[in-house]
Amino acid sequence: MNSLVSSKNLPRHTVELLLKNAQSFLDIGPSPGGGGTVVNLFFEPSTRTHLSFQMAAKHLGLKTLFFDVNQSSTNKGESLLDTLQTVAALGVDLAVVRHGADWPVLLEGSGLSLGLVNAGSGIFDHPTQALLDALTMRQQFGGLGDIKVTIVGDVRHSRVARANYDLLTKLGVVVRFAGPDQFRASDLAQAPWLELDDALTDTDVLMLLRVQHERHNSEYDAALYHARYGLTEERLKRLGKNTLIMHPGPVNRGVEICSAAVADPRSRINRQVSNGVAVRMAVLDWCLQGGRHGKLVSA
Ligand code: CP
Repeated sequence: MNSLVSSKNLPRHTVELLLKNAQSFLDIGPSPGGGGTVVNLFFEPSTRTHLSFQMAAKHLGLKTLFFDVNQSSTNKGESLLDTLQTVAALGVDLAVVRHGADWPVLLEGSGLSLGLVNAGSGIFDHPTQALLDALTMRQQFGGLGDIKVTIVGDVRHSRVARANYDLLTKLGVVVRFAGPDQFRASDLAQAPWLELDDALTDTDVLMLLRVQHERHNSEYDAALYHARYGLTEERLKRLGKNTLIMHPGPVNRGVEICSAAVADPRSRINRQVSNGVAVRMAVLDWCLQGGRHGKLVSA
């Protein structure tokens, strides 16, 4: 049983295997795999990640358990570790976890007998998001070695920014950041910090981030933010004609991105969501079967 909990520690050859297998799922379609039982333990809200893991498990013919945190014994003080030990004792093979803490670090050395997949850990990591973003870019550009990606917005509080930095730089992508100074991240200071207006004609991908209000109380004026740091209609006109517009979602229209940019032909926002199902199929399959499902071939 494999676990996938960290973008930083995921070897490049495993990233490439997962991307290849995800693309194969898109090309040849879903088919039942080797079986297993999966539970999604989501302690933070989600639409895309939660539903796409459910969809991926259904496509693979896996058994799934339903967990509603609001009706769970978390409300009686049960820890994440005790919840995971409980679902392991129930016979679950793999737990997909989203939690506000840096939980993979907290669980290190805990000796859990089931596999784990990180569906989001606080501000720290979101490896399946970075995988689906890499797949979306690879579909457009082929190889990723020479491309430039500019990630704009609340970098400091973003697990998507960290996951993409760790995973994309491993694949040779040049990752830069832009946005308000207050949202610079000291742990990502090795990457260039640009003026958004300078990046518009000098990037292959412009990835917009939502302001993560749930993680801080920064003063904020949506209209002012949009004018200074958002992909406005005026900036959309200046954006490179082959530059992809990406966003992990959910989008806040009129804040980090205008509606015209969401609908623009350069936008890959819906494609990111679709690719998320294939990537999560590849991840579930890799965890449960070592990535050897169906016609797929392990590297
Ligand atoms: N991108 C992402 O993680 O979206 P959700 O919070 O809707 O899962």
